[in-house]
Amino acid sequence: MSEQTLSNLMSEDRRFEPPADLAADANVKEEAYDRADSDREAFWGEAAERLDWGQKWDQVLDWSNPPFAKWFVGGTLNASVNCVDRHVEAGNGDKVAIHWVGEPHDDTRDITYAQLKDEVSRAANALTELGVRKGDRVAIYMPMIPEVVVAMLACARLGAPHTVVFGGFSADALASRITDCEAHVVITSDGGYRRGAASALKPAVDEAVEKTGDLVRHVLVVRRTGQDIEWNGREEGGRDVWWHDAVDGASAEHEPEMHDSEHPLYVMYTSGTTGKPKGILHTTGGYLTGTSYTHWAVFDLKDDDVYWCTADVGWVTGHSYMAYGPLANGATQVMYEGTPEKGRWWQIVQDYKVTILYTAPTAIRTFMKQGREIPDGYDMSSLRLLGSVGEPINPEAYVWYREVIGGDRCPVVDTWWQTETGQIMISPLPGVTAGKPGSAMKALPGISADVVDDDAKPVGNGNGGYLVLKEPWPAMLRTLWGDDQRFKDTYWSRWEGLYFAGDGAKLDDDGDIWLLGRVDDVMNVSGHRLSTTEIESALVSHPKVAEAAVVGAADETTGQAVCAFVILRDSAGDGGEDIVEELRKHVAKEIGAIAKPRQIMVVPELPKTRSGKIMRRLLKDVAEHREVGDVTTLADSTVMDLIKTKEGSAP
Ligand code: WT7
Repeated sequence: MSEQTLSNLMSEDRRFEPPADLAADANVKEEAYDRADSDREAFWGEAAERLDWGQKWDQVLDWSNPPFAKWFVGGTLNASVNCVDRHVEAGNGDKVAIHWVGEPHDDTRDITYAQLKDEVSRAANALTELGVRKGDRVAIYMPMIPEVVVAMLACARLGAPHTVVFGGFSADALASRITDCEAHVVITSDGGYRRGAASALKPAVDEAVEKTGDLVRHVLVVRRTGQDIEWNGREEGGRDVWWHDAVDGASAEHEPEMHDSEHPLYVMYTSGTTGKPKGILHTTGGYLTGTSYTHWAVFDLKDDDVYWCTADVGWVTGHSYMAYGPLANGATQVMYEGTPEKGRWWQIVQDYKVTILYTAPTAIRTFMKQGREIPDGYDMSSLRLLGSVGEPINPEAYVWYREVIGGDRCPVVDTWWQTETGQIMISPLPGVTAGKPGSAMKALPGISADVVDDDAKPVGNGNGGYLVLKEPWPAMLRTLWGDDQRFKDTYWSRWEGLYFAGDGAKLDDDGDIWLLGRVDDVMNVSGHRLSTTEIESALVSHPKVAEAAVVGAADETTGQAVCAFVILRDSAGDGGEDIVEELRKHVAKEIGAIAKPRQIMVVPELPKTRSGKIMRRLLKDVAEHREVGDVTTLADSTVMDLIKTKEGSAP
């Protein structure tokens, strides 16, 4: 990677030391790194002691057949017992597990661990009644309501791996996932609330079930909105069963079985790349150890914390850091049904005295765009720690998050990980690490990461390359569902013995890691490699820019050329006539003339997936004057039309 790509981010020299009181009382201190380095397996063995096991393991790690890992070999446990029963048995049954906040105002529920245990047990009994047995797969397609967590834990209790499909995905996407993992039961709801209105889910399930032939035997339906839906009840020989009929009357006693540590817990499909979605398989003992430990360590979780992860349960963040990690830790958390809405988040922080907030840079930048007056109107003094995940956080967003949301007193932990890693891998420790805005800093204790070049040679401090993971970790994916070969090819074949993450990264002079985005988003301009992330970061550091997306478009002379799409801040108006030239100059100043975008288009929106990732592929189509490709995974499929209209007016 050229020096040019490094200058912008690397010139960031602000440092934020851990608050003294947090550091003094931190769950994890500096010594953890050394302890884990000297005996990695002993370290993870100790972390696994956080859980309740039926039978203790004989061996922490079996890596005799890489890349197929086995963790806590010979151990048995039940994930749902670890997430609910044991907290009740420890006398914490009255502690609130979930403060649920519905989208319609005043629609709230508080659910204690004791209530959750009863509900999970009832659901496990109901699923058994519907024929679900250990090893059977269950698809879940639901909005952010407590029943989705209950459904996941009930499956885990039975040892029936779930596959949660994000409620915003289409019937086709749902059908392909049901087919790929051969699920006989689907759990859904009549609908959910989106932006104030009831929106149906059940029709998509009907359509998906139709497409999958005779595969699906039962559809268990939660009544959430009460809207009209088509119903094919069992009386008429159909598949549909109401949740309140099957679950409410079931017994709250359910004797859990202890499952093997390597028993499959869930399959999560990842989209975005070409071809058919990959079914990432996570198993029980290692996954629960990895998520519970990191949730406790990275968020410095204390008994009286009120934790809020804003991710949808349909993504891995919702699995690891809303469902399994926090519940295994007996935490109290907020679960919100809605999406970012002016002021509503801050109202929730104020009302529930949220202490830890975990969200994504895209949300932060949206709030920046709306202006600080909105969050400034709420009392957010309860917050003590902020987390970021999903994409590189640019220094401006980091600092805004820290100052405006965190009152300049809360550390920000930028956490790097993936659906595949299951757990946070690279992150500051809030009581140890002096944060640098824009850097995920270093691998957590027990995790081994490095940055290498094309020949797998470590690049060393001050240089960029590919991020790799060098040692197995407890929550790592075990394979791709039904496709061991693709698992090997995708992650383990590039270099012998190294996990290829697909991300570019750089080590600064202190050896701290800066993520530079997917390597597939790295451009090559006149033989110089440029990071889309870096140019975006430069653009959003301009006072008039709210959001930016950069793609490399084919160029006859330079190989690739930089094309930028920007959304201006509300306060910038239309930016003025010379805005494009002003921004090109700004990028040249921040990074160098080589990074100057060939083209900058001012657009009203950027195309994003429902998880908030910018779909650069579509922007690339526009930049290269091609027919715009598949827009079905966009949160709002009309966005591309708005952008194309603008294209005509581009310079
Ligand atoms: C990809 C994984 C991890 C849960 C949500 C996304 C990017 C994620 C960061 C971060 C820079 C990040 C990477 C990674 N990513 N977190 N803190 N800094 N990049 O899970 O959909 O599996 O995506 O998201 O490119 O490879 P995912």
